Order: sequence, then structure tokens, then C-alpha cells
Amino acid sequence: MELSVKIKEGIHWIGVNDRSTDIFEGMWPLPKGVSYNSYIIDDDKVAILDTVKHNSYERFLGKIKSVIGDKKVDYLIVNHMEPDHSGSIKLLLNEYPEMKIIGNKKTVGFLENFFGITSNIEVVDDAGVLNLGRHKLTFHLTPMVHWPETMVTYETTEKILFSADAFGGFGALTGGIFDDEVDIAYFEDEILRYFSNIVGKYCVMVQKAIQKLQGIDIQIIAPTHGPIWRSDPASIIKRYDRWSKHEAEAGVVIVYASMYGNTETMMEAVARGMAEHDINRIRIHDVSRTHVSYLIRDAWRFKALILGSPTYDTRLFPLMDQFIKFLKHKQLKNRILGLFGTYGWSGGGVSTLKEFAEEGNWDLVDPIVEAHCSPTDEDLNQCFTLGKRTIEKIKSYETCG
Ligand code: FEO
Repeated sequence: MELSVKIKEGIHWIGVNDRSTDIFEGMWPLPKGVSYNSYIIDDDKVAILDTVKHNSYERFLGKIKSVIGDKKVDYLIVNHMEPDHSGSIKLLLNEYPEMKIIGNKKTVGFLENFFGITSNIEVVDDAGVLNLGRHKLTFHLTPMVHWPETMVTYETTEKILFSADAFGGFGALTGGIFDDEVDIAYFEDEILRYFSNIVGKYCVMVQKAIQKLQGIDIQIIAPTHGPIWRSDPASIIKRYDRWSKHEAEAGVVIVYASMYGNTETMMEAVARGMAEHDINRIRIHDVSRTHVSYLIRDAWRFKALILGSPTYDTRLFPLMDQFIKFLKHKQLKNRILGLFGTYGWSGGGVSTLKEFAEEGNWDLVDPIVEAHCSPTDEDLNQCFTLGKRTIEKIKSYETCG
């Protein structure tokens, strides 16, 4: 017997935890796993909201049966078509051939192109309504959070927002499924890593979605990943609001590369320059030893980003180059930026970082420090100053509110 979890009368979590997939979207590590949350409403009509990745279908079906037994499923609401949620649609249709799939115009194309499904589909518009009996659902289109077909579904009796990927996070659930049943601190970093890696590029659309949902009385937020927010649903909306406005915490992330320790020595001087101030939220990552997803997360978290890199093959160190390409792609904004680095016989490292700074319209800290082979005492003094001035800039923003 598979375990479902009751959320409210007639509404159950039928999601699964995936602790064996190592990499999400073929790119993002999952050290704590991930949950694919699905929900079922057992009323006069039975509706399922999103499915799970295909590798978990048997467990998923067991959970459905644990709630409705031999009853049939009338509707599958598809809030999002990415295959971590849509991967079991076809199998579910085989089990329940009369089931109607509810989606919007954009959902239709994905159903056909991913799975060859062209029938059993009912298209809903923005603010569309579906009555299940005691429970009534309304649909709200939230395009590009983070795919074009994305929508959310609101259950009006219990005031539950089924929010698709929005307000979700990495991390398999730890027995509890609600924010008040789990150690939420264990999930915090993974929620921000999920936001910044998966959703962050679409901040404008996240803002539109938040504004659109403002008039709705939301008592519970049930996303497709991570904890269900019932003790304080406003708290996760506030976090998404802040992150999608590119607001940041007072702190610094230093991301550096070093082949023989010279750029690392400069990094230590930069960090020391920050230490004699009362902002101590400093994170230091070696770009060669830290997956880029964690670098993106901390760049999103903190007000200041400092990049330090050697030159390699007359260009920027390749892993640093990869990181700044990700930053450009994710369109992170409103950050203080500090730069330092080294070269042996030609430039190419720091000059590429400068180009990155010019393209992105960052608030650049003076000085930019570049050492020839190994840093001199003067170079290290300059690095110290770079660290000190970075903290001063953070404080000036705080003063400006
Ligand atoms: Fe969780 Fe966009 O899929």
C-alpha cells in the first residue's frame, strides 16, 4: 500500500520522493533528492493535479488507488508540461481512458509533441472554472513561470493554490510534507537554488504572476516540488517577490579560480579586507570545486559578487568563463561587482571579466586588481582595499534603503 497524505477533506498529496535521480534537467545536482508533488481531489468528480516523473509511475498509481480505490479519475489538471510532472500522463490515460485532460491552449501543443496525445483534452482560458462537487477549481494562466503553458489552479472551498513549479524547491520531503512538519531550515538553501537555477531567468513573469494572485485568499500553497506551505504561505510569496525583484541580503560571495595558489592568495587578501566590518555573511567558492548551481544561488542571495581568476590559454579560466556565461543567461541584476586576477605572459583573464562587467551594467568596485604571475605586496594591499570598499558599498545601499 502506498501512502497518500490528507491535506483537507477530500484533498490528498499523492506525490513521490525521488532520491535516485542525481541530476535535474540533466544539469543541476540533487544531493538531497527532489519530490514530484501531485494532488488528488476526491469529490463527485475525481481530479488529479499534475502527475510525476515516469520513473515513479507505479508508486504514483498506488497512491491514487489508496485514495479512490476502484473509482475512476474524471480529470487530470495539467498545470505544467515539463516531463518531471507530465511524464506519467500517457500511462495514466491507459489506466483511465475516459479521463479528460484540462490544460490551456499552450498545453495542447506540448501534449501532442511530447506524447502524441490529441484527444481527451479540454482547453480552459484564464479564470476558467471547473466544478467537482463540493470543490470548485479556477484556473489562472502564469506563462513563463517557467514554461509558456504554465498555469496555477485555485481550489475555492479550502483556498488552496496548486502553484506548479512556483514556490517550490529541491529536496526530497522528509516524512512530513507541510512546512510545519519539516525542518524548513534544511530546505532553505535548496529552495533558493531551485528558484535561481530554474525560475530566476523569468523574474518579470514571476512578478506578473505574483501581482495576478494578489486578490486571491490563499490559505495553502501546494507546489509541485518541496514542502506545502500551510503555516505561513505568505512567507514563500514574499521570498519569491524579493528574489524576483533581484533584492539581496547584505553579504558577499567570492567566486575564484586558482591553478598554483597566486589568485587564491589574492582572494584571501580580499576576504581579509572585508573582515574588519560588521557584515560577516561572506561565502567563498572555488569555481573548480563547486557546481555552478551553488554559485548562481549565492550570487542571487548576496548583494555583492567578487570574481577572481587567472588567465588560461590567453583567455579567462574556462570554468570562470562558464560561470559568467550562466550569470548572463540568468540575467541577474542589481549587484555590486568586484574583480581581481592574474596573468603570466599575456592578459585575457581580468580583461574578459571587465568586458563582462561593462555588458552587465554592474556597480563596479574600485580597484580592479591584476597581478603579474604572483601578487606583490602592493597587489595584496589593493585586494584588501577591494574587499573593504565592497563592504562600504553594501552599507551605502543599506543606508539608501
Ligand atoms: Fe518541475 Fe518545470 O518542472
